[in-house]
Amino acid sequence: MRRPLISGNWKMNLNHYEAITIVQKLVYTIPNETYETVDVSVHPPFTDIRSVQTVIEADSLDIFLGAQHCHWDDHGAYTGEISPVFLAKLDVDYVVCGHSERRELFGETDEMVAAKVEAILRHEMLPIMCVGETLDEREAGVTEDKVLAQVRAGLADRSAEQVASLVIAYEPIWAIGTGRTATADDAQAVCAAIRSVVSTDWGSDAGAAVRIQYGGSVKSGNTTELMAMPDIDGALVGGASLDADEFARIVQFAAG
Ligand code: 13P
Repeated sequence: MRRPLISGNWKMNLNHYEAITIVQKLVYTIPNETYETVDVSVHPPFTDIRSVQTVIEADSLDIFLGAQHCHWDDHGAYTGEISPVFLAKLDVDYVVCGHSERRELFGETDEMVAAKVEAILRHEMLPIMCVGETLDEREAGVTEDKVLAQVRAGLADRSAEQVASLVIAYEPIWAIGTGRTATADDAQAVCAAIRSVVSTDWGSDAGAAVRIQYGGSVKSGNTTELMAMPDIDGALVGGASLDADEFARIVQFAAG
């Protein structure tokens, strides 16, 4: 049985004071027993991670610590970049990689994403690898071609055990921050296609185990419908995760 994972991607929002406040608010808003059926991660900006880690550790919170991206090398002359070694040292659990904003705005290629997936796993963290199509691609009918090619490229050299352990986030680019959500049936169809490719390329055990999130305008109002889909195992939430009450409701609805 796959445990649902609800992840809050805060993007470039919330300074470290605001981050601490929101985590504390989540703690008293989400009942303890919720964590028995759902995993929750938060992905603050890099400058907040140490503060959030301190709160999580001091209070032994059941929230997983996440990052929004990292470099693939451990050290070196990469001004402005963050090493996976640093994230592992901060007890980061999940690292988002290949987010469409990184791909589209910062030129990340499938090869870079594959290198990041390898680096994140090497340092014993779990990747949340994002894939998704543009509106033009959807309208041209090439959604699955695009998404499945991204899955194959990003996970190319990974073992079946590695693929079984990680998370793939299907985020149609046209649904991110737009208020437009893929219908639950459309999202399910793409997530099922992703699982099928994983089963074909890495074996049925990996296909059955890999967790697939949906992302793109997820709110408390559409969580139940999305989570009812057999191949959707959680959500990567942007805007709605900036409001502790709304994010807590999403977590609660995902817990069922
Ligand atoms: P929104 O939930 O704001 O659409 O963002 C989705 C996303 O990009 C999460 O990574």
